[in-house]
Amino acid sequence: MTAPPPGCPAHAATGLVPLAAATGAPDHREVYRALRAEWGDVARVELEPGVPAWLVMGHREMLTLTRNEQLFSRDARNWRDLREGVVSPDSGLLPMMGWRANVVGADGPEHRRLRAPLDDGVARIDQRRARRQVEALCEELIAEFAARGSADLVGEYATIIPMLALASLFGLDSAGGHELLRALIALFGSADDSQAGNRQFEEILLDTLRERRERPADDLTTAFLDHPNLRNEAEHLQSVVVMISAGNETVTAWIAHTLRLLLCDPRFASRLHGGRLGIDDALDEALWRDPPMNNMPARYALRDTELGGHRIREGDCLILGIAAANDDPLIRPEDELTEPGNRAHLAFSAGPHVCPAQVPARLITRTAVKTVLHRLPGLRLTVPAEEIRWRPSPWTRVPTALPVDFPPAPGAVRHP
Ligand code: HEM
Repeated sequence: MTAPPPGCPAHAATGLVPLAAATGAPDHREVYRALRAEWGDVARVELEPGVPAWLVMGHREMLTLTRNEQLFSRDARNWRDLREGVVSPDSGLLPMMGWRANVVGADGPEHRRLRAPLDDGVARIDQRRARRQVEALCEELIAEFAARGSADLVGEYATIIPMLALASLFGLDSAGGHELLRALIALFGSADDSQAGNRQFEEILLDTLRERRERPADDLTTAFLDHPNLRNEAEHLQSVVVMISAGNETVTAWIAHTLRLLLCDPRFASRLHGGRLGIDDALDEALWRDPPMNNMPARYALRDTELGGHRIREGDCLILGIAAANDDPLIRPEDELTEPGNRAHLAFSAGPHVCPAQVPARLITRTAVKTVLHRLPGLRLTVPAEEIRWRPSPWTRVPTALPVDFPPAPGAVRHP
């Protein structure tokens, strides 16, 4: 076993760097750079003690991995360590990595069948109407803390808006969105609450599906019900569930990172205020530097092959190293700030599983950032940027909090 690269806290037994050590580091790019120096563009890491995986960090290798589904499957039933019991059935990895009968776990024609309703539904979204709805939800939430003069923009804003906004795309009102959010919090809470949370989450969405079957509306729930590719209620429900669960934490992370950039990075903030860069540039810069899925599970090799100079065995697990690939010296510009308009990052991945919701994700994130900046002029972070910590996860890097103050906004409307 090779020695861990400097700066990488390796696991004592295997000598491999745990993936969560990168996402949890003060600067994740330092850890990826050290891994790259040691291994090249594809590194061996550990997902949990005793469970290894390949972390694909080269931009070119990421394109090979995501575009070549004859060689790299999305279906976790091809994962050798899962088949052979190296990953235990109650492993904390499985909620994110275990196979489910939905678009995420499918390859080839079955994937295309389940994927078309998502792409077609997203294409039907009326963007002007959606923007107005999201703006109203943001205003309503900001009114809760505007008069206080202080807030935590993660806990009180970035973690709440995405669920409310996604729910509204599926035709739920703000109360319905809050109900879904409570169910989701229970789902990820203690084991006791978890099952009830899951049931409640699905019941709310099932009720909406049944209502829309009776009374169609101009929303994504109706678009899925109308789609000829989906065969039964279970597939309708799974399609809604997968969209809401894939969109929730990613959009939270994108809002939080964009706000963090604007509030903490004096160079960026001054350029923004100086008018050279707009909100879209801040959103793109956040996708380059802190992609919402820092690492994304996974692909499974269907036969022995080679990637980045390493021998990959049939059944090996390969993780999409999105943040590391965005920092690949082959594509990363010398200048720390990306050229405006450059969207060659891999934040939304590539290939057949590329995120189907890039347009609504940007619409929600952009509206959330713009509305809070507009409503609360003079926002200031109240802790030094270096003190920001991240929620522990090998996949995402969401700040635990963004405490801010601002001149209280008197007369802020309180919605019932
Ligand atoms: C910050 C915003 C978002 C980012 C950065 C993001 C990123 C990603 C990434 C990296 C993938 C994985 C692709 C792969 O395995 O190769 C993905 C897939 C997916 N995303 Fe997003 N996503 C975002 C928002 C959303 C939203 C708002 C929704 C739903 C409304 C959504 C729905 C999905 C779905 C359903 C998939 C699976 C697609 C498939 O397997 O074919 N995402 N996304």
